[in-house]
Amino acid sequence: MKVDGKAMRSIWLEPDGWSIGVINQTALPHRLVTARLTTLDEAAHAIRAMLIRGAPLIGATAAYGMCLALRADASDEALDRAYAILLATRPTAINLRWALDETLAAVRNRPRSERAAAAYRRAGEICEQDVAINTAIGRNGLPLIEAIAQRKKPGERVNVLTHCNAGWLAAVDVGTATAPIYLAHDNGIAVHVFADETRPRNQGASLTAWELGQHGVPHTVIADNTGGHLMQHGLVDIVIVGTDRVAANGDVCNKIGTYLKALAARDNSIPFYVALPSPTIDFTVANGVADIPIEERDADEVATMTGRAVDGRIETVRIVPEHSPVANYAFDVTPARLVTGLITERGIIAASRTALAGAFPDRAGTAQ
Ligand code: MRU
Repeated sequence: MKVDGKAMRSIWLEPDGWSIGVINQTALPHRLVTARLTTLDEAAHAIRAMLIRGAPLIGATAAYGMCLALRADASDEALDRAYAILLATRPTAINLRWALDETLAAVRNRPRSERAAAAYRRAGEICEQDVAINTAIGRNGLPLIEAIAQRKKPGERVNVLTHCNAGWLAAVDVGTATAPIYLAHDNGIAVHVFADETRPRNQGASLTAWELGQHGVPHTVIADNTGGHLMQHGLVDIVIVGTDRVAANGDVCNKIGTYLKALAARDNSIPFYVALPSPTIDFTVANGVADIPIEERDADEVATMTGRAVDGRIETVRIVPEHSPVANYAFDVTPARLVTGLITERGIIAASRTALAGAFPDRAGTAQ
């Protein structure tokens, strides 16, 4: 997508042909800062500290983390160690394990001298595949927005509500939930996005708003608790969110607060769609609500807020009493029954075991 009019991705191979460039998302929206990853530890840190985040991008970064590890040491022990270190960085987004398994499979049976090159090839393919998948999600989701636009009176816009950041910053490019939105906008449909701020890390306020603004998509940032009110007053036509893991039964894990939006959408008969790239499906988890591991992060993310002060300095301030305990659950699971449909690269399907296995038999069949 475009940044200041120039095409940019969230991750790239540097001109040296081996080190990895990423956007340091912790500096957005105030500064566009890039980081260069040169070692396994730097890649693991970038994922853990959320310099990069979003399920597809976590996967792509992990794949390149394996490349960096193999460049330094291509032994079986080093390979297993890199896999374990990267897998432990974040527990919820399943694209991480998927990308690590893909990279491992590409190198495991090769001589050591060929392993790093094979890993770089597979990591590059994972990135291109992500872009192709998201482009297809955009094409498949577009008719939903077009149908709403056709019902609008002249001058009215299609209002989409989204939560967290499932845009191109969360993927390699295009984004998942944003893919149909960008396509609709590019096709001349008057689309407007309500971006939930998404406490505690504010991915909606900082990242979704930034990238929509860069692409010229009209949007409004709202406090997390606003969606239900907007829905009651007819101000939301459709909800489209991304996901970090979808269980075999269609339960959808996404950023904390997504479940509440799905409840409000159901109460107001507003369609609630989830953009789902197939690497985000976890056929090994039968029941998402019961069994998807939910990451619990540092209390400071809730107890403090970071932003730009009037003098331009970036400051972090505490907003919770010094001794109050804080809980920081990073994700929740929306039961399949609240999901109107899953927008996948193979079309829009029901959030159900039958539909998922029917659309992705290749993935369902290999799940252990
Ligand atoms: O903690 P994050 O920022 O990595 O979580 C990302 C999300 O939950 C996003 O909403 C997203 O939909 C999943 S990535 C497309």
